[in-house]
Amino acid sequence: MVVLPLRHHCYITALLSSTTLLLLLYFQNSVLVFTYGSYGFVSERSPCACHTCVADRGNSNWFSERYDPNVPLLLNSTNSVLNANVSRWWNELQSDAGNYAEVVDQVFSLFPDKEHYSDTGSDRCRTCAVVGNSGNLLGSNYGPLIDFHDFVIRINKGPSKGYEKDVGSKTTHRIVYPESAIDLDNSTHLVLLPFKILDIQWLISAFTTKNITQTYVQVPSTIKADKDKVMILHPEFIRYVYDNWAERHGRYPSTGFLTLIFALHICDEVNVFGFGATSGGKWHHYFDKTLSYENSVHGGTFENETIHRLLQENKILIHKGWT
Ligand code: C5P
Repeated sequence: MVVLPLRHHCYITALLSSTTLLLLLYFQNSVLVFTYGSYGFVSERSPCACHTCVADRGNSNWFSERYDPNVPLLLNSTNSVLNANVSRWWNELQSDAGNYAEVVDQVFSLFPDKEHYSDTGSDRCRTCAVVGNSGNLLGSNYGPLIDFHDFVIRINKGPSKGYEKDVGSKTTHRIVYPESAIDLDNSTHLVLLPFKILDIQWLISAFTTKNITQTYVQVPSTIKADKDKVMILHPEFIRYVYDNWAERHGRYPSTGFLTLIFALHICDEVNVFGFGATSGGKWHHYFDKTLSYENSVHGGTFENETIHRLLQENKILIHKGWT
């Protein structure tokens, strides 16, 4: 056996200790890099499994100043009490005489009363197509591309039947209010955008007594839709979009704009179709010749600028169509 002098023992012990320390530091850093991405010092996990994630607030100050991940999106019985500001503002939009608390009680005895979309996480990559009603969809051949998304969110009366080639055939969600409602199939979530208490009363009536047929215009007394897939946008969410994203332009946000911001909260990747004028500057629908959107109670120009800023900030992609 070779006997080493005491001094050599000390050297070897020191060498082994420092090697162990270096190895430990190396592995700790590798785990950090592996877990948190290639930056090493980034303190948050990636919020989703897509290439880029809408909810990643680290990459745009403009976005993170506006985006509130904690805003209530959909009404349920546990979050239905409105704070005074929201309540006053919402009640003045299209004022009516209903009793909000009573209506909310009734609505959740009939429709699902649960928290939706709290499933965000680093292993989810949910892609969404938000399909507006612009005439720029005609001749676009976007149908297969739109249908390829996990969620296809349509707005108001925008049909797919007869326009499949350009707008697709899948609809997972349709955002409507009583005056814009149409029949849905069983695979679609009816998402009510309530501008007034009567809108929620209409929803109840449409699935029960069918006795509400009039708001400020005639509305359908009933509609085909899966009762278990009904959702209601939260009035506080509408106010949030008005304050943070429309920056109080117009009287309240347009349905398309609300839908797009809703998508930013429930999707990881958002692709936008059927928004904006045609290349000839026309604002008509793809399914009729109604001129829409430009002259209204909404802050249309500002909303468009915000949508384009979302594009610049890499939060959405806009597919402009061909016509
Ligand atoms: O006309 P409607 O409100 O049903 O359209 C739904 C949404 O589609 C609008 O709120 C708007 O965001 C978008 N749209 C558009 N250009 C059009 C028509 C609709 O951007 N010509």
